[in-house]
Amino acid sequence: MRFPKTRLRRLRKGENVRRLTRNVSLSKDDFLYPIFVKEGIEEKREIEGLPGQFHRPLDGLEEVLSECEELGIPGVLLFGIPGEKDEKGSEAFDSEGIVQRAGRKIKKSSELTLFTDTCLCQYTSHGHCGVLSEGGLDNDKSLKILKKVAISQAEAGADYVSPSAMLDGQVKSIREGLDEEGYGSVGVMSYSAKFNSSFYGPFRAAAESAPKKIEGASKLDGRKTYQMSYGASDQPLREISLDMREGADIVMVKPALPYLDIIRRASESFDIPISAYQVSGEYAMIKEASRSGVIDEKDAFLESLMSIKRAGANFIITYAALDVARWLDES
Ligand code: PBG
Repeated sequence: MRFPKTRLRRLRKGENVRRLTRNVSLSKDDFLYPIFVKEGIEEKREIEGLPGQFHRPLDGLEEVLSECEELGIPGVLLFGIPGEKDEKGSEAFDSEGIVQRAGRKIKKSSELTLFTDTCLCQYTSHGHCGVLSEGGLDNDKSLKILKKVAISQAEAGADYVSPSAMLDGQVKSIREGLDEEGYGSVGVMSYSAKFNSSFYGPFRAAAESAPKKIEGASKLDGRKTYQMSYGASDQPLREISLDMREGADIVMVKPALPYLDIIRRASESFDIPISAYQVSGEYAMIKEASRSGVIDEKDAFLESLMSIKRAGANFIITYAALDVARWLDES
């Protein structure tokens, strides 16, 4: 028997058939929007390096919350930039801290699901994700502080706390802390597979959280001693499986686009929702390239986000969430 001529182009000949035959799609259900609340400012200010994203004062949060709700975005990931920093990041677990006040406000004035970033780097004077001792990051001392941060965020209304410090045992310690304090219904989205990435550059400038070179911390080399090396492809799976055993409800791969292989392997290996973070550098690259006219912004965002879904992510944290929701409304 002769094979008929293969013509895959028959499946591409019109938009309708292309719609019918694709098996991955994007919807508003797929996005979590990161927001930055900053102490000590009166008006929202555009963040340099993240065009279209803002530092917002506590009193200016309603605007972005109602935008998210009107567009149908399910939730926000909240970051705080405190007025003062110290060695152990005390503002991160202060019940009157900027994130705690913002959390209460968000829960009072919206129905959005609130995820809080649970880390110390925005709050420590040295910019590291925990406390330091003997020239390095002290894992177990930092765990105790991170647990307090998580509890204070739960108290303020967080639906999911999101540890991003890459400390060993962070999910277990937080889960135990939440349960002891009666926050059994508050979940943990762990930044499980977080790579030591150059793509966090614009975020660190925005959050004023770049790690400093400091005397007495000779072992620290940026965040290389705690975030994963990008040459490791099995370690992220081990991190995820440990976090699952420690009680994570959602696990994250971060960044997204340079790590699609990890998202794919994780989604095939584990039965747990996987989020992927399209980080500041990924966003800024698309913004810059489209500003100079070399690529089309909308197409580039839709393509990159679709590829993250295609790799197996359940949802995506992206600074483009609001724009994408508007584009989806138009189409
Ligand atoms: C805090 C944290 C970082 C990001 C999210 N949470 C920065 C870092 O690890 O230095 C990066 C997000 C982005 O680049 O958009 N640990």
